[in-house]
Amino acid sequence: HLCDRRQRQMCIRDRYMKERILVTGGTGYIGSHTVVELQNSGYEVIIIDNLSNSSADVVDNIEKVSGIRPAFEKLDCLDFAGLDAVFAKYKGIKAIIHFAASKAVGESVEKPLLYYRNNLVSLINLLELMPKHGVEGIVFSSSCTVYGQPDELPVTEKAPIKKAESPYGNTKQINEEIIRDTVASGAPINAIMLRYFNPIGAHPTALLGELPNGVPQNLIPYLTQTAIGIREKLSVFGDDYDTPDGTGVRDYIHVVDLAKGHVNAIQKAVSAEGVNIYNLGTGNGYSVLDIVKAFEAANGVKIPYTIKPRRAGDIATCYADPKKAKEELGWEAQYDLKRMCEDSWRYAQMCEK
Ligand code: UFG
Repeated sequence: HLCDRRQRQMCIRDRYMKERILVTGGTGYIGSHTVVELQNSGYEVIIIDNLSNSSADVVDNIEKVSGIRPAFEKLDCLDFAGLDAVFAKYKGIKAIIHFAASKAVGESVEKPLLYYRNNLVSLINLLELMPKHGVEGIVFSSSCTVYGQPDELPVTEKAPIKKAESPYGNTKQINEEIIRDTVASGAPINAIMLRYFNPIGAHPTALLGELPNGVPQNLIPYLTQTAIGIREKLSVFGDDYDTPDGTGVRDYIHVVDLAKGHVNAIQKAVSAEGVNIYNLGTGNGYSVLDIVKAFEAANGVKIPYTIKPRRAGDIATCYADPKKAKEELGWEAQYDLKRMCEDSWRYAQMCEK
């Protein structure tokens, strides 16, 4: 299967004019899946990552999946001179997808300055270097967290930005403003901001996924570790929300669908002027208990759980109106919840081997 794939990649490579895309955070969860989809579409990818929350083995796995080894530079985006050197080494980079960031909500409350420095300065460094090296487009990883608890659902890109609940969420809002102000100042940059909903699942080969790091804070990693037996019980945070079963409702999206959205966004980023914003979600809302049931049914496992008080900073319900991305990017999520649960479980079991 991988061999066929490799041949197909070679054909794609020969057929298309390769454009160079720099992917920061390209060995991370969403980044690695996106690198594969970019390669599948004929782009040449250069990854930079400081490996603070990932491993260099991911580069090998990307190669196994796509048949193409991406260039990899171990580098922190805070290192301005290092970034400058990467742009000089790989001439003609067309656009950047900027994933590299610290992303743990709880940790950001404890270490706000770490989050502000990492997330803000990294973006500023890239924006400063883009004109110097003739890089036209940037795709920025933003989050539905900027909407807080939306007044209207499904939430569209026009919904007002709500005060952030954490320094992490605030870095997403501030970075969106930094991009807007930079483009408004006349910098020769086109920007796409993608507001992700809740990515779950893993690559169907189980070679790429979300690597568990300590006690998981997000629902699916905690749930899979409970299914494996590493955790005794899943804590369901709150059953008294104003939702059908009282538990929190989110828009879960398969990470491969999310990754594909970046390929469409890259095409737009190099052609559309100014700043464009898109929700990347499915448009479906599922509660925590829906997820538990879907996971049990898809994988034939039991998830013991217990109801706990609400988690600080959580909202009741958020799901996307994904129409704008469909109309303007030609992108739409394909995978259903069953598939998300199957792929999450396959990867989690692989990790424990
Ligand atoms: N949940 C549980 N038990 C857990 C973990 C989560 O019941 O052990 C619930 C949460 O309360 C929430 C839902 O499962 O209702 C989803 O929680 P996640 O932590 O998986 O995802 P969030 O929607 O809280 O977080 C996402 C992104 C963050 C982002 C945040 C902003 O993962 O990066 O949205 O709202 F900051």
